[in-house]
Amino acid sequence: MKNYKLALKATIRANSNLALIKYWGNKDPYWNIPTNDSISVSLDALKSTTKLEFGDDYKDDFILNDKLLTGEGKDRIDFVLAKFREFSRFDTPIHAESENNFPTAAGIASSASGFGALAHALYEASGLAYTNDDVSRLARLGSGSAARTIHPGYAHWFAGENHETSYAKQIKPPDDLKIIVAITEKSAKPVSSFEAMELSKTQSPFFVEKAIQSKDNIEPMLTALKENDFSTLGQIAQKEANNLHAVINTTGLGIPYWNARTLELMQFVNALRENENIEAYYTIDAGPQVKILCKPESVKPIVNRLQNLEVAQDIILSGVGNGSQVM
Ligand code: PMV
Repeated sequence: MKNYKLALKATIRANSNLALIKYWGNKDPYWNIPTNDSISVSLDALKSTTKLEFGDDYKDDFILNDKLLTGEGKDRIDFVLAKFREFSRFDTPIHAESENNFPTAAGIASSASGFGALAHALYEASGLAYTNDDVSRLARLGSGSAARTIHPGYAHWFAGENHETSYAKQIKPPDDLKIIVAITEKSAKPVSSFEAMELSKTQSPFFVEKAIQSKDNIEPMLTALKENDFSTLGQIAQKEANNLHAVINTTGLGIPYWNARTLELMQFVNALRENENIEAYYTIDAGPQVKILCKPESVKPIVNRLQNLEVAQDIILSGVGNGSQVM
């Protein structure tokens, strides 16, 4: 809890996060109240930095990676702003500038770090008293996964029933898990995750079953985290990714998030375990990038093999990150 203080600007750095138990679909899309709880790990290599200032002469401009944001992305920011004003009764216009150190909207959750940083910056810059739960709830209105960004290490987003009860708590501080992000395509994805999950609700025959599996996977994942059981963590995470993509690939005629390189990398990770005795698991979100979960000693051998494979356009090495921070 922060004490009241006068400060009309703030800079926040927030990490992206990777879901080990996947969020996919809302029981209330207006408030982003999800169908099931989810669990994520913060990624120290993927960050958004947002500078935000309140001022009577500003016009709510939001500059993302040096460009004035317009269209759908800006509509979502305006929604978060409108809700912040409604909750806080603090309605001075803003000017904000934000930068990602990784490709935006390409399935590595730029929305999670971006909206996490925005929500935190609004509270911090306003000088109002706030809690982590307030930031998590506000971030959720921009993008569901952003609800989990405030926390260092691992976070559990409780689905809840309404705006008050749907927010994330920390479950474990950072540990030595390593995440290798293999970028297979740098352009923006064809369908936003928000739009895709709404379509899945009515079009995929597996939507309900995936949510049931995710609910069943929460307790085993919490136990795996508590016991530092990497094998169980990795197996559940890979199954969750496969279930998510079973839904995505059966939404209408299939939402084309994967590319040929995505599939090649999935096989590559399975072959590491099966043929080379290197314990690694993959997970994939709403995009074509493959994230490989492994132990510290496996990073070098995996990266060497990945480089020989020449499938990834870029390789980002990440450890477990912090929560969003005031700079
Ligand atoms: O937060 P959104 O609306 O970008 O949705 C994220 C969905 C997944 O990344 C696929 C899963 C998750 O839990 O982060």
